[in-house]
Amino acid sequence: MNHFSRIGFILAAAGSAVGLGNIWKFPYITGEYGGGAFVLVYLLAIVFIGLSVFLAEAVIGQNAQADIATAFIKTSKSKNKNWKFAGFMIIAGLIILSFYSVVLGWILNYIFTSFGNLPTTPEVAGKAFNDLLGKNITGQIIFHTIIAGTVIFIVLKGIKAGIEKINLILMPLLAIILIGLLIYALTLDSFSQAISFMFSPNWAKIDSDALLAALGQAFFTLSLGVGTILTYSASLPRKVNFVKSSIMVAIVDTAIAIIAGLIIFSFLFEAGAKSTDGPGLVFISLPVIFSGWGMLGHFISVSFFIALVFAGITSAVSMIEPALKFFTDRFGMTRLKATIICGTFFYVFGIIALLSMTGEYKAILTVFGKNAFDWMDFITSSFMMPLAAILTCVFLGYFVDKELLKRIFTTHVSETFFNIWYNLIKFLVPIAITILLLNKLGILDY
Ligand code: PHE
Ligand code: NA
Repeated sequence: MNHFSRIGFILAAAGSAVGLGNIWKFPYITGEYGGGAFVLVYLLAIVFIGLSVFLAEAVIGQNAQADIATAFIKTSKSKNKNWKFAGFMIIAGLIILSFYSVVLGWILNYIFTSFGNLPTTPEVAGKAFNDLLGKNITGQIIFHTIIAGTVIFIVLKGIKAGIEKINLILMPLLAIILIGLLIYALTLDSFSQAISFMFSPNWAKIDSDALLAALGQAFFTLSLGVGTILTYSASLPRKVNFVKSSIMVAIVDTAIAIIAGLIIFSFLFEAGAKSTDGPGLVFISLPVIFSGWGMLGHFISVSFFIALVFAGITSAVSMIEPALKFFTDRFGMTRLKATIICGTFFYVFGIIALLSMTGEYKAILTVFGKNAFDWMDFITSSFMMPLAAILTCVFLGYFVDKELLKRIFTTHVSETFFNIWYNLIKFLVPIAITILLLNKLGILDY
């Protein structure tokens, strides 16, 4: 049987969750929104909204033991075949994977450049980053191809020999590198500054934008709304306590985001750099800081970018898996054929994404002021993921037998826990996400 073991599931789901979202995105948005207060809001979003949706996907998957479409039909009260349209979620994962693979390609490039001369000023570092994105088409295609090939190679081997195994290898290595970096950060004087930046609330920068950013980040970081958690849970034996496993994954993901934040802010403050550099934080600010640390700087730079690639690869394989399971289980396709189809899709879209930022192609691949790369990010994280999360919650709250859910939950946890979760997904979560969705769509104007 192609099933996860309990620990295999936790590792794979944690591998999916822990990714660029934790080490690249979380620190830079925390920096942009002023630190402490944002972290607090983010933690609340994880506990009350992220974890609820995580459990929602997990309970559907584990109970149905099937692909997304079949799982929705099977779980519904009516067994209405139209629930198959929930299968649209697989598209979001493939689109995210398209640009995620390109970003992983940049990181691969940074592993190699970490061995050479590191940029000594922000101007030089900024130019290097912009030249990579704007001019180096061949380089980006090569790196994207290496990443895409690696992802395809892993998923072709299946759940146990492919996904479980790669997580079993990469997750401990990632933990070792991060602990090493954390220990180094601890020796810096700036560590206490990083702690107070991240944990003493600065409410001045908390507005509706910050709240929405925290909510969006909670989804992205826990891999919700693309069917990944549902699909992974479908390979989790029914007897395993999915609630405990889910909570563990959320804790690991949160811990790694916080640790990554502490490491990066210690480094930044040590060099007297700003915390508000946005997406360029790890690609522009960090290399300049590393350049001041001599040989050790090269070593830390290489380790840091390797950690990012490891974290990202285990997330990348989890983005394609919902689509693969959908094609193999629902349409009886071979895994090879499904992988070729999905692989071609995300590979080609990745190339479109990277071309859309380069000189020659930028103009044709930009629509309404956003290039293809930004569109892929925007459509998935601001539209498809929240929509899928709302659908999942409304489905469970209104179209599934409550007694069935209660029975499943109470074999593992108390009835009180079940009731809290049930009310969250029935009322609070869909309403909160609807607000997020409407607000984000307002951004469409510019
Ligand atoms: N959770 C991953 C991260 O933090 C991203 C991801 C999104 C993975 C959706 C799978 C599905 O980087
Ligand atoms: Na994450």
